[in-house]
Amino acid sequence: MTRIPHESSGEPNPLRALTLDRLRLRTSMKWRTYPDDVLPLWVAEMDVPLAEPVVRAVGDALALGDTGYAAGTGYAEALAAFAAKRWGWHGLAVERTAIVPDVMLGVVEMLRLVTGPGDPVVVNPPVYPPFFPFVEHLDRRIAEAPLGADGRLDLDVLEAAYRRAVAGGGRAAHLLCSPHNPTGTVHTAGELAAVAALADRYGVRVVADEIHAPLTAGGVDFVPYLSVPGADSGLSLMSASKAWNLAGLKAALAVAGPAAEADLALLPEEVGDGPSHVGVIAHTAALREGSAWLDALLGGLDDNRRLLAALLADELPGVVHRPGEATYLAWLDCRALDLGDDPARVFLERGRVALSPGPQFGTGGAGHVRLNLATSPEILTEGVRRMASALR
Ligand SMILES: Cc1ncc(COP(=O)(O)O)c(C=O)c1O
Repeated sequence: MTRIPHESSGEPNPLRALTLDRLRLRTSMKWRTYPDDVLPLWVAEMDVPLAEPVVRAVGDALALGDTGYAAGTGYAEALAAFAAKRWGWHGLAVERTAIVPDVMLGVVEMLRLVTGPGDPVVVNPPVYPPFFPFVEHLDRRIAEAPLGADGRLDLDVLEAAYRRAVAGGGRAAHLLCSPHNPTGTVHTAGELAAVAALADRYGVRVVADEIHAPLTAGGVDFVPYLSVPGADSGLSLMSASKAWNLAGLKAALAVAGPAAEADLALLPEEVGDGPSHVGVIAHTAALREGSAWLDALLGGLDDNRRLLAALLADELPGVVHRPGEATYLAWLDCRALDLGDDPARVFLERGRVALSPGPQFGTGGAGHVRLNLATSPEILTEGVRRMASALR
């Protein structure tokens, strides 16, 4: 694929702004799960300072004591404008949106609307590990339709999973990860239209987790699921949380296609009390005014993807790696290194670098690790050096 570099926004690369000493002052999960001699390249938090418009909006809210409950449609309007400008998608109707506490709780609520207890939810492993416990905690059943060896949706496998899922007579859903975590695959318009056609044929409801949508590599276009023909009955979850590093400022949006409007209307009102008002303010500011910062980040992530490929070729030539088309995660196939099903354990114990263990991602995850490359080039370089040291 031809990669066109991201346009320079004139903003400095936020991945180069923070030193390791400064990052270690953070108290979040990424920095407090392991002892200080471990370099954390695991959970999806970025090593960046926040975009200035977000800091300003949250600071203004705190100064004003504007810390009550969320109200209005500002977040949805900001997302609709962002989607139109960024992805050329003009179909995000504000009246078909609802604010939800975060993407995973939004996923749960959407699945509750379109399936019943014991019903199957198709997922495409290897996939974001919390999909499994969240679906099971909701008393739905996981049905796997693994990605192909190329890391893309396998439509034959998907059709077979849909057929099995509806055979029992229940209401089936497909929890689609788009872009896909951990492979970074960006589903094409053709693939998504084929998913929509299959879902329509089998009566499967698609719930698309599109949290990584703004984080595409240079030259790659994200396609919103609800923008493809035949996807009218779909539901999508979107959020500024991954792209602007706002996971601690809880808020996300559920978006319904035209034929799912009646379902979304049944969302209990109390779900809308879950998001933080300050979170909504932060997400709205990011979408409205955070594009220059995002472009600088995307340029830095492109650089880091290239750097990672070069470092792996030099230091860990046995690792097989296809650079992702989106997200800031790299999915590394370590099977040739002979480190067993869970190479992350070896890298942690012998190299003192924390990666996400592949087996947690379901079928296809054994022998793999996921590396978070949203950090400085220096820390990324040190991370790969530590991985290589674990093999000596
Ligand atoms: C695919 C995917 N969905 C959801 C989430 C979590 O989102 P939230 O914190 O809004 O629930 C993540 C976090 O990394 C993710 O990668």
